Amino acid sequence: MLNLSVYLERYTKRIQTALDAQIPGETTPPADLHKAMRYSIFAGGKRLRPILCLAAAEVIGGDTAPAILPAIALEALHTYTLIHDDLPAMDNDELRRGKPTCHVVFGEATAILAGDALLTLAFEWLAQTQAPPPYHPNQLSLELARAAGSLGVIGGQVEDLQAEGQPPNAERMEAIHRRKTGALLRASVRMGGIAAGAAHPALDALTGYGEKVGLAFQIMDDILNETSSARALGKSAHTDRRHGKMTYVAVHGLDAARRRVAQLTKEAIAAIQTLQGSIEPLAVLAQSMGIRTH
Ligand code: IPE
Ligand code: IPE
Ligand code: MG
Ligand code: MG
Repeated sequence: MLNLSVYLERYTKRIQTALDAQIPGETTPPADLHKAMRYSIFAGGKRLRPILCLAAAEVIGGDTAPAILPAIALEALHTYTLIHDDLPAMDNDELRRGKPTCHVVFGEATAILAGDALLTLAFEWLAQTQAPPPYHPNQLSLELARAAGSLGVIGGQVEDLQAEGQPPNAERMEAIHRRKTGALLRASVRMGGIAAGAAHPALDALTGYGEKVGLAFQIMDDILNETSSARALGKSAHTDRRHGKMTYVAVHGLDAARRRVAQLTKEAIAAIQTLQGSIEPLAVLAQSMGIRTH
């Protein structure tokens, strides 16, 4: 049986090492900018997106080396979205990954630019990474650009802000969740599969898995915001209700949210049953995401 903590630690170390090697050092001018980028990226995130990317590459091909740059590109892009999400103009949060947010420590201008630089760095790394056949060599940057852009994360963030204080609407809420969070988790497994040269049916299976865990992940975020504490989460709790956010909990209530996470977790695992390699890591990851506490 897979030992999840050993598995996570092994991948987390590889991700940390690659990020450390690829991001300019703290003393590289402009030092404030590089300090801010490193402050946020090494503040202690779960590294879920890069881990999913590596786990997807593993189930397809065994060799995860070609998925390392895509994996850290996902983490850099994700960290940029968190820095910007916390800005006063957006969710106005002062705690992230257990530390004061980037703009609190470095000021708003540097935080915005640190986010911009992490976003740009993600594509710099992907520009150095060719996808193998049957894919176009540029397929990895295309995947990330589509997931992150106006039809994906950025679009979802706009809709999330516009929906504050609006009457509950199940369809609208799910569309927000799919874009602001689901799109990047879906891209994480797809990019791992593409980097490993997955055949199209296998990529479809990974995509199905990514869509289910992507939605489940944001519903869990909504549940934890309602029920947990800043100490446990490393970010503020009980804020969604205060801001009138259109969350799964606001629309359907806590019990229904928990049932939907359990259902989506089952569906995610069902989606990968046809894969040839060992699906245990992806299955265990989906289960652990469905019972996470932070
Ligand atoms: C937080 O993501 C933002 C959401 C999309 C819900 P994570 O919960 O993965 O945050 P880190 O990377 O562990 O800090
Ligand atoms: C998550 O937004 C999505 C992005 C950051 C792109 P939230 O605002 O729901 O996430 P937290 O709760 O601040 O991490
Ligand atoms: Mg937000
Ligand atoms: Mg937020």
